[in-house]
Amino acid sequence: MNVYDSQRMLDSLSAEGFEQQNEPENADLIILNTCHIREKASEKMYSELGRLRANRRAKVVVAGCVAQAEGREILERAKNVDFVLGPQALHRLPKLLKASPDHNRAIDTDFPVETKFENWPSPVSHKASSFLTIQEGCDKFCSFCVVPYTRGSEYSRPASAVIKEARTLVEGGTKEITLLGQNVNAYNGCSGGLGGLIKALDEIDGLDRIRFTTSHPRDMSDALINAFGEVDSLMPYLHLPVQSGSDRVLERMNRRHDVEHYEKIISKIRVIRPDIAISSDFIVGHPGETEADFIETLNLANRVGFAQAYSFKYSARPGTPATDDQDQVSEQSKTERIARLQVLLGQHQKSFNEKFVGSLSKILLDRTGRLSGQLAGRSPHNQSVHVGVSPKEFFSLLGKIVLVRITKANQNSLTAELVREEEVKPPEVPV
Ligand code: 5AD
Ligand code: SF4
Repeated sequence: MNVYDSQRMLDSLSAEGFEQQNEPENADLIILNTCHIREKASEKMYSELGRLRANRRAKVVVAGCVAQAEGREILERAKNVDFVLGPQALHRLPKLLKASPDHNRAIDTDFPVETKFENWPSPVSHKASSFLTIQEGCDKFCSFCVVPYTRGSEYSRPASAVIKEARTLVEGGTKEITLLGQNVNAYNGCSGGLGGLIKALDEIDGLDRIRFTTSHPRDMSDALINAFGEVDSLMPYLHLPVQSGSDRVLERMNRRHDVEHYEKIISKIRVIRPDIAISSDFIVGHPGETEADFIETLNLANRVGFAQAYSFKYSARPGTPATDDQDQVSEQSKTERIARLQVLLGQHQKSFNEKFVGSLSKILLDRTGRLSGQLAGRSPHNQSVHVGVSPKEFFSLLGKIVLVRITKANQNSLTAELVREEEVKPPEVPV
């Protein structure tokens, strides 16, 4: 979501005559768009601000969720910061710059009535794969999470605005759109919810692939599940965070779902799309988590067999209920548990990938690969795939969807070779 917001800030500043610079030493304006989800993210911001002191001329803006959470404290701790801008006030940056031509320090962490989306100019993106934020904020209040405080309450953009933005992206060359929201499946900007929006987007000519992230198990409606069987452009990949495999911990996390509910969703989707890649988020060491609870998380991982997963050590965030919980888990247990979980998740990921060796797949090549002579992209199941191409084709294939045969599976990526469409057509039978 920060990538999307940063791109839109860039678009709005381009309209004011700014140009993107890659080296901070050459910039007149430096924006750090920050994340507050775990402690490490805000620490990173302060060390980055230290490095930026070398450029005295530039105005420095701290934007995003650390700005929202720490506000004035940032101005006190980092003397080189000019503006502090919360995630819902990002569209006010051009105005703020005009109002403060010198290094006048200012802070804007309002949740304005007007939204940034309606104030930003149309997106300028020529990427084959683009993000599109359709929903922001969260009303779920999980015990560990800062999002409801930093991004505010749930808001859905009207479907008409989303469809218009999607069309503009496709006209600019986008073939794949990932719909974003903290609770993307709580989207209510049209009568059919997220499933309805996906069907409307599927009508756009030239939009070949649709994805969405991140979903909450409570908002996984049957209509959305059925969309995986009805909409060809909806890719067979679902990121559905579970956080823990223990009902006791899920209750303490205020997750509003239990393990049974989670597994029921997975079963339903697998009936409709047996090949679906399921991904998840896990937190280990939430206050109150015992070894027995953690074993239940391992058991759940074994039962589901995730295609991919992110796992984090619980990180106490100021102002969230879990921070004051007396039953904090020791750092040593967290470290030990996450290592065990990651080994298991890695094995599942590798065996998911291995099933594809020898099969055909369509890859959207959107970047250069690890080795020279390689392009890389995503499979429908969201695997990262490296494809060898000839120097002649290198640039013409960038941004295209190509047919490949998977030749090798690693834990985090696949290797593949190009297949010409004619090679897979059945041979003609002579009459
Ligand atoms: N500590 C560790 N991980 C967290 N997440 C959210 N808050 C915390 C926290 N306080 C994780 C969750 C969420 C993902 C985006 O980040 O797993 O799904
Ligand atoms: Fe945070 Fe997600 Fe829980 Fe909302 S549903 S509070 S964004 S973890």
